[in-house]
Amino acid sequence: MTHKPAPTEVSIHELIAGRWSPRAYSNAPVSHEQVRAVLEAARWAPSSYNMQPWRFMVFERAADEAAFKRAFATLVPFNQGWNASAQVLIAATAQKLTAKGEVNRTAAYDAGAAAMALVLQAHALGLAAHQMSGFDVTAFRKEFAIPEDVEVIAMISIAHYGDAAALDPALRDREKAERQRMSVGEIAYRGAWKAAF
Ligand SMILES: Cc1cc2nc3c(=O)[nH]c(=O)nc-3n(C[C@H](O)[C@H](O)[C@H](O)COP(=O)(O)O)c2cc1C
Repeated sequence: MTHKPAPTEVSIHELIAGRWSPRAYSNAPVSHEQVRAVLEAARWAPSSYNMQPWRFMVFERAADEAAFKRAFATLVPFNQGWNASAQVLIAATAQKLTAKGEVNRTAAYDAGAAAMALVLQAHALGLAAHQMSGFDVTAFRKEFAIPEDVEVIAMISIAHYGDAAALDPALRDREKAERQRMSVGEIAYRGAWKAAF
């Protein structure tokens, strides 16, 4: 399955409605140019004071399988299972301090915006991209000697779409289930906290 559009309340752009988090991957190669393109999209995300606190550690299986495997090993077993054919892993991190050494309150927010641009570009390229918090951050920091002022936030895997029928039965059902969200009424308030939108 490659198409699972959001059942939206109001019509929105296909790029946003069409992006989702697949787990059925094929082992077809993801080109270096495609990786460059998703990073380029991340690069143009907005950020507070244009500080661009995001930093991405990129692991391309085809370019450096040993490094890819070291990053892959930090995924929790559940994520390792469905990522067996993933071609690219990208660790999304953020520099927590400004150039003056002060805490950048929006560093993670900005890195999240960049990550969203990245996965939207992957979707636009017809690739599957899936963000993950399920990895051992402590092990990752140690393995790749991440400096203390850098927050390691999420891992993103990228691959070509694969066959959902090849997934474990439980995952197959999740792959096919309709995408769920709270309603706009639950996430948006009008003018006062909890006031109906
Ligand atoms: C920061 C973050 C961490 C996530 N961690 C995992 C994860 O470890 N494993 C997983 O299978 N999915 C993970 N997901 C995917 C979410 O479960 C998914 O985005 C959510 O269920 C909504 O589905 P959709 O992206 O298809 O709309 C994560 C998503 C985000 C944004």
